[in-house]
Amino acid sequence: MRSPPPLPRRHALALLALPWCAAPRAQAPASPVLVRFSHVVAPDTPKGRMALRFKALAEARSRGRVLVQIYPDSQLYGDDDEMEALQLGAVELLAPSLSKFGNVGVPAFEVFDLPFLFDDLAQVRRVTQGPIGQELLLRLDRQQMVGLGYLDNGFKHMSAGRPLRTPADFRGLRLRVQASRVLSGQMRALGAQPVVLPFGETQRALAAGVVQGAENPLSNFLTQGLAPLQRDLTLTRHGYLGYAVVTSQRFWRRLAAPDRELLAGALADAIDESHRQAEDTERQALETLRQLPGVRLHSVDAPQRAALRAAVQPVYDDFERRVGADLLRAVERAKAQTP
Ligand code: LMR
Repeated sequence: MRSPPPLPRRHALALLALPWCAAPRAQAPASPVLVRFSHVVAPDTPKGRMALRFKALAEARSRGRVLVQIYPDSQLYGDDDEMEALQLGAVELLAPSLSKFGNVGVPAFEVFDLPFLFDDLAQVRRVTQGPIGQELLLRLDRQQMVGLGYLDNGFKHMSAGRPLRTPADFRGLRLRVQASRVLSGQMRALGAQPVVLPFGETQRALAAGVVQGAENPLSNFLTQGLAPLQRDLTLTRHGYLGYAVVTSQRFWRRLAAPDRELLAGALADAIDESHRQAEDTERQALETLRQLPGVRLHSVDAPQRAALRAAVQPVYDDFERRVGADLLRAVERAKAQTP
């Protein structure tokens, strides 16, 4: 039998950098790694698909030594207990929305909730992928968490049993919000009554009439089955919804360095793929919605948008007082940077 040709030097060096090639023969095989990834949305959403892609990449690159178990749809933990579960070591990975970190002591993340702050995802990414985004992730240290990256869902729209185009339309409605002071303030500024509810309870609360409306990106609106309950979806695009993928310090520090690298790399690639598909995903969701019987889509014209933006100014003032004007100014500067 002919021996295989020698590897070009460049490839041989690259292989030496891989943990299983560099390990001395006598060394015990690297131990398996279990990653339980809990989240609250459906598998067929940007977060759900990113989690599945991360699993595929991490398991393939580790040749099955890393096992990723995904628990979608609040199956294991919901908004109220997922962060605690992470700190207690009951799960290893979460991707809560940025809106949910104010409640655990990092209100600066609520800057992403400010209505009408971002025009598009490119602006958001200039913030999340730059020094501000990195600095915010480091603040999770205080909560014994490690922030591994940001993932976009997209822009939120308002739904109810009537179109919501101007502040007058919001008056008197009870609207579900995530546990974010900015989001509660936004609904109050528009004349509605905010009701903080875990994501997993929103559908039932709408069905029971506990709340009469909500704000959601299209993917969540569709996959949570809100269409039969909310006849009018107004394409307000008024706010951004994105996530921080987090793990616990305890889990992360106990991993061998090559495993940390492998997981971080798989996650970065899964997020990257998700971001490249973001616009298509949004377009497809809109197409699906247009064809759903019973849902009426409404657009918002420039004067209506301006009236909504003016009405929410108190939310900006409150954010500046409570969290700081410096952060908001830094975000404005980052947004305006040319890519
Ligand atoms: C919500 O609670 O509305 C969202 O954060 C759910 C999600 O994870 O997309």
